Amino acid sequence: MASYNNYIYWMLGKYFPSTCLVAEENGQVLGYIGALLSAEKRKIFIWQIAVKSEERGRQIGRKLLQSVLLTAGDMGIMQLEIAINDKNSSCRHMVEKLVQDLQGTITEKERYQDEGFCETVYSILIDCIRSKNFNK
Ligand SMILES: CC(C)(COP(=O)(O)OP(=O)(O)OC[C@H]1O[C@@H](n2cnc3c(N)ncnc32)[C@H](O)[C@@H]1OP(=O)(O)O)[C@@H](O)C(=O)NCCC(=O)NCCS
Repeated sequence: MASYNNYIYWMLGKYFPSTCLVAEENGQVLGYIGALLSAEKRKIFIWQIAVKSEERGRQIGRKLLQSVLLTAGDMGIMQLEIAINDKNSSCRHMVEKLVQDLQGTITEKERYQDEGFCETVYSILIDCIRSKNFNK
């Protein structure tokens, strides 16, 4: 996953604090999710999720994503989108499994293609997800 200038992460944390989150343990950052609410589309776009390589498989990514889905529900935002690289089956599995467990729906929406870079944009509908379904 590409990481960007610190200024980008400062801006995300400052202006999107409910949906840009870190997972911490003993003062160490183990994972991160960056998601942004589009006011005009009434959708949240999940831009980045990353877990430190040695900490993967501990449900950290799932919990970060779950927190954003819960926040979306609390905000009355029922649609989210995420672009996942076609080669990234671990991320796709994580997202599909969580949405399925929460009885939401996930569908392919469109494709983004650039030189050597191919992503599918998935639309997540959480209409039936309410806070009671979450163990935050
Ligand atoms: C994708 C990523 C965020 C997953 O984080 P994670 O904390 O390791 O994932 P979790 O432990 O929460 O896994 C949740 C579910 O995802 C799926 N999953 C996670 N890693 C997987 C893998 N390598 N292969 C298949 N399924 C996987 C499983 O269904 C898992 O559920 P289970 O443990 O009950 O089977 C992590 O692998 C990562 O940081 N990858 C590099 C950055 C990246 O690709 N980000 C995504 C861009 S969209």
